[in-house]
Amino acid sequence: WKTLDDVALAGKTVLVRVDINVPMEGGRVTDATRIEKIVPTVEDIVARGGKVVLLAHFDRPKGKVVPEMSLRHVVGALEAATGRKVIFGEDCVGDAARAAIAAAGAGDVVLLENTRFHAGEEKNDPALAQGMAALGDVYVNDAFSAAHRAHASTAGIAGLLPTAAGRLMEAELRALEAALGSPARPVVAVVGGAKVSTKLDLLGNLVTKVDHLVIGGGMANTFLVAQGIEVGKSLAERDMADTAREILGKAKVAGCTIHLPVDVVVAREFKAGAANETVAVTACPADAMILDAGPQTVAGLVKVFEGAKTLIWNGPLGAFEIEPFNAATNAAAQAVARLTKAGGLISVAGGGDTVAALNAAGAAADFTFISTAGGAFLEWMEGKDLPGVAALMG
Ligand code: 3PG
Repeated sequence: WKTLDDVALAGKTVLVRVDINVPMEGGRVTDATRIEKIVPTVEDIVARGGKVVLLAHFDRPKGKVVPEMSLRHVVGALEAATGRKVIFGEDCVGDAARAAIAAAGAGDVVLLENTRFHAGEEKNDPALAQGMAALGDVYVNDAFSAAHRAHASTAGIAGLLPTAAGRLMEAELRALEAALGSPARPVVAVVGGAKVSTKLDLLGNLVTKVDHLVIGGGMANTFLVAQGIEVGKSLAERDMADTAREILGKAKVAGCTIHLPVDVVVAREFKAGAANETVAVTACPADAMILDAGPQTVAGLVKVFEGAKTLIWNGPLGAFEIEPFNAATNAAAQAVARLTKAGGLISVAGGGDTVAALNAAGAAADFTFISTAGGAFLEWMEGKDLPGVAALMG
């Protein structure tokens, strides 16, 4: 794939697909991370004399115009992040888009309306892709986090114009390559979260790629059940026990060591501050549930991390959203941050809840790379081809 360095930008109108699908409450952006992350691409294009025209989706309006899902609501946050005037276009194709682009002066940023207001976006309709391509001279995809969607603005449009990856896309792809493509070994993957059933493909792919797989959160309980360990009232998918055993078998063949909790924090209620005790993993009372991994488990994990060169993390180790059941996630995340800072470990994390958990642990800033992607990060960890990335290959 090409980068911004490989395309001529001076005097060009540059269509940049970004992912500014940010959390919003009452019409205000509550976390502007994704907006801040596109700034290097915007600055690079402006500095080289290009006019920046942003294409983006927001939420899931399903091909209809839904006013609450208008990108107009992020204009203020975009102006704050870029320090530039933002000209909003009422549509992502046609006269309204052209008028906004014509109205933009040097250094202004054009933001076009939600691409998903058109049914053709999710259908990857060539007519919509052509309509967008007709607005500019160059296409840049900076939306790694939307690259798992084969949509008109992420896939169809690529190749209709000179095409390149933006700076954020470039950084995401390089980080992921370093973590799983051709990583320094040993490689550890930490996978947590509630359910095995949503992460089957991911676990199946990882055991063939990594040296150590740490399984935490609710999904660890399913693996414990698969090994005949009683987990009381814990969240566990008992019907997935056979599948869990298959994954364990596959790991053995591939030479991947699986790490499950050896001690656990149990409680009778799922609520913050619930009375709890730490017991051996084989001693979960019948009326209790496992809500976190225990300190012995964490100490073991830290040893594994200390021996590793690369670590990839997706999902919390316990019920991190309620205290004190965030303890294992926090301690493990802080160990990764410390080892990364010391220079011995490359650490990459991504996917939904993960970033929130690492932020809450105060550990995110010291990771080598934190992906902006949720679903795309997972699909990539599953070993799937991402259509938005494939389209960049031309
Ligand atoms: C995301 O938030 O993960 C991306 O913006 C993709 O959104 P989607 O799941 O609605 O396609």
